[in-house]
Amino acid sequence: KKGSYDHFMQKEIHEQPHSLTTTMRGRLKDGGVLLGGLKEHLKTIRRCRRVVFIGCGTSYNAALAARTFVEELTGIPVTMEVASDLLDRQGPIYREDTAVFVSQSGETADTLLALDYALENGALCVGITNTVGSTLSRKTHCGVHINAGCEIGVASTKAYTSQIVAMAMMALAIGSDQISTQARRNAIISGLTSLPSCVSEVLKLDAEMKDLASSLIDSESLLVFGRGYNYATALEGALKVKEVALMHSEGMLAGEMKHGPLALVDEILPIIVIATRDACFSKQQSVIQQLLSRKGRLIVMCSKGDASAVCSNGSCRVIEVPGVADCLQPVINIIPLQLLAYHLTVLRGFDVDQPRNLAKSVTTQ
Ligand code: UD1
Ligand code: BG6
Ligand code: NA
Repeated sequence: KKGSYDHFMQKEIHEQPHSLTTTMRGRLKDGGVLLGGLKEHLKTIRRCRRVVFIGCGTSYNAALAARTFVEELTGIPVTMEVASDLLDRQGPIYREDTAVFVSQSGETADTLLALDYALENGALCVGITNTVGSTLSRKTHCGVHINAGCEIGVASTKAYTSQIVAMAMMALAIGSDQISTQARRNAIISGLTSLPSCVSEVLKLDAEMKDLASSLIDSESLLVFGRGYNYATALEGALKVKEVALMHSEGMLAGEMKHGPLALVDEILPIIVIATRDACFSKQQSVIQQLLSRKGRLIVMCSKGDASAVCSNGSCRVIEVPGVADCLQPVINIIPLQLLAYHLTVLRGFDVDQPRNLAKSVTTQ
């Protein structure tokens, strides 16, 4: 079943042009979006007081990546909940809320308990899942199957990118009654159409990421700085590295750098800075300057052709990625980090598909 690949994680990373295509199949129609599972509920969702995203692990990170464009395209306030934390706090959930549950397996215990809690509190419950017939799919009022195909590697890869794309389509569908954002929606729809080919292009960085991995093999820690659309990319890239390569790694909000993390910067600690083109680009340029002035060991991810714009003195290692619509850029940007985590794991001699102490689906609390 792995075909020509050595591991399922590797296969699943490389099949993303295909899995994203199946996620979108039959759903981008006549320049608009058609999600059969949400159609009847869009009016209710548009009237809700807020959207609450709920998930664990990579699925939480996918929801975080979606947060900004859901707010932008719908005008509805969005809050984020890690499922276990919502339960610990017994946080407020109301009838006027739309609670969106994100889970690859649809069987994660914490997420399902949070679903029971939200149902009891009367919220409209929406599922975003890869598993038809799962408990999450059955118990939610409505939802979207992401149709990424079975994911076997414990570290989620193709489900993450398909979750983001499914939520982008959801945001487009909810916002489709707004005339003021029509041009923006059209641009995102055309971005979705070109996404699989951009993903094929970014996968060509495989050898470069293997080489980067070999330079990081003995590092004790790796920081990843992102912001805006790519804050989630920083968290998810770091999660991949820690869960499979068993290396300490933290994703951080670049805007928080000077409020603590800057103290860690020296010539040894590798730091990845995500600085692809979007509204936050100039802020990331100044973050890079501040890190360089402290002699930070930088690896900068930037848009094609931007190497000298992000690092004029040539002292950074640069990863150049193809550009897509800014809100879809997280789908592209996570892929080099998935490849990095994969190669780092193989080079360090750890089990790629069954990382120590972890399970694909955590069905106990
Ligand atoms: C559905 C069919 C698909 C068919 C298409 C044709 C299924 C599972 N899907 O896809 O095979 O090609 O019509 O138009 O038969 N749902 C939840 N919670 C979730 C996810 C989904 O309640 O977490 C519900 C949806 O609201 C919907 C149903 O499950 O009622 C199917 O969802 P989905 O597969 O996303 O719908 P379609 O894309 O229309
Ligand atoms: C586990 C997996 O912790 O559950 C992670 O190891 C996953 O990869 C998390 O992100 C959530 O799983 P699910 O199925 O709810 O998306
Ligand atoms: Na359902």
